[in-house]
Amino acid sequence: MSVADLPKVELHLHLEGGAPPAFIRGLAAEKDEDLSRIFNADGSYAYRDFWHFLEVYEAATSVLRTPEDYHRLTLAVLEESAANGVVYSETFLSPDFCGGRDLGAWREYLAAIREAADIAERTDGIVLRGIVTPIRHFGPDKARETARCAAETAGDWVTGFGVAGDEKSGELQDFAYAFDMAREAGLGITAHAGEWRGPDEVRAALDALRPSRIGHGVRAVEDDRLVDRLAEDGIVLEVCPGSNVVLGVYPDWPSHPIESLRKRGVTVTVSTDDPPFFHTSMRREYDRLAETFGWEEDDFRQINRDAARAAFCDAETRKAVLERLEPPT
Ligand code: HPA
Ligand code: ZN
Repeated sequence: MSVADLPKVELHLHLEGGAPPAFIRGLAAEKDEDLSRIFNADGSYAYRDFWHFLEVYEAATSVLRTPEDYHRLTLAVLEESAANGVVYSETFLSPDFCGGRDLGAWREYLAAIREAADIAERTDGIVLRGIVTPIRHFGPDKARETARCAAETAGDWVTGFGVAGDEKSGELQDFAYAFDMAREAGLGITAHAGEWRGPDEVRAALDALRPSRIGHGVRAVEDDRLVDRLAEDGIVLEVCPGSNVVLGVYPDWPSHPIESLRKRGVTVTVSTDDPPFFHTSMRREYDRLAETFGWEEDDFRQINRDAARAAFCDAETRKAVLERLEPPT
């Protein structure tokens, strides 16, 4: 058996970032929108660097205009995840894109997304939960409105809250109020940090937002004391190695710190971030990790158990997911 065939848990996937380019092209055509500037001649997404990627991402997202569009998107994304052996997934989704932070509109988008997730669970067995996402470069005021949407809809399906967007924009302590609202509503907490800024930003996330998980967090490796703190406190990193390599955080796979972090006792998990943008998939990430670091079936099984334990879901769901990760007896 190839490690790529193993059942997988994915904790870090941006919903719009999972949109196949052909899906976005199709929606643009339906809406008479010219989006040719965001595609290469071969049909893939075209961007120069992370900041241009964020612009292209928002342009692609601009043709997702109705709950029905998000219903179709969710089905397309989950079909791909299930084909990659993912049995449980958490997706970032944002009231900024889904109804402009209007609570009534957000509820409608959410209902459409959940309905699609229920269909995918029945047909492919994949379980999805949502992490509500303020966009850092939209600023802390909008993040509070987003947190209100999150708090009002927190429950069995919206189970997390986590900031994404441009890590170089603003300071995380200005988002603390929004995160406090989310925490009080019972949501699990994560934050993108330590991808475009160094270890100090990971420390800022830990101090200001008190997350149990960090999105990326890989640049913590530059600071030994911080690595120890992550290990001792059991902070789980949502590592997306292919994303980091394609965006140039690291020049190649052998330079990626996922293995050194793991060896030093940090709990790491593996995700794709925005798979079609970064020409990756969960199968591909597993193949590259096996090739680069010699990881074997037991390594991947352990990583998936850790991911399931760190998942923002109820105990019953977690137990069922953990059972699906074990080899058949
Ligand atoms: N990183 C940060 N923000 C994002 C991303 C990402 O990969 N995708 C969409 N927003
Ligand atoms: Zn991300």
